[in-house]
Amino acid sequence: MGEHASKQKNLSAYTGTKGTVNISFTLNGKPVVLKTKDVTTPLLWILRDELGLKGTKYGCGIGRCGACSVHLNGRLARACSIPISDTAGHAVNTIEGLSDSSRDLHPLQKAWVQHDVPQCGYCQAGQLMAASALLSSNPTPTDEEIDTHMVNICRCGTYLRIKAAIKSVASAKALQVEELRQMQLVKRHTLIEERDQPQNDMQETNH
Ligand code: FES
Ligand code: FES
Repeated sequence: MGEHASKQKNLSAYTGTKGTVNISFTLNGKPVVLKTKDVTTPLLWILRDELGLKGTKYGCGIGRCGACSVHLNGRLARACSIPISDTAGHAVNTIEGLSDSSRDLHPLQKAWVQHDVPQCGYCQAGQLMAASALLSSNPTPTDEEIDTHMVNICRCGTYLRIKAAIKSVASAKALQVEELRQMQLVKRHTLIEERDQPQNDMQETNH
């Protein structure tokens, strides 16, 4: 979308009367219209205090620790440092919307359970949002790429288990990709054989 079109979209998502402003955005796939008097209020407080989504946590409040990590248009963002006005016309996803299904956990959440990752648990929503942003853009990251991307702070020091859980999801993804590649290869060979078969049959008959 061009800059002009993006500005137009944001303006239409940003209306209000009598000192209040209506801000429209998408939250975990559902449209939200938020009435506010202060457009500088950080997204974190809107999520927790106005919208009742307490999974996103407050840590440092200055964009350093990552406890408040969410996705803004699919990219990792610090909710403590985003004024609510910046969400107008955009898509916000929180830990509550990480899984596509209300009945099943996200693969990363399952890996977190399998690897017994959390200790006190306080930082883990942010860690999961950071890990899912990483795997969305890079489904099979190297160790170095995981280290570079996963900079959220964990006071309990669960870093090794976080890394192991991310690697297990990445390995499963790599296996899936390889299986799909093998299936496509077999399918291609079968199609070539079927295409060549009538020709081969005719050549045999002529001999
Ligand atoms: S609370 Fe937002 S980065 Fe620490
Ligand atoms: S599990 Fe306690 S701060 Fe990370």
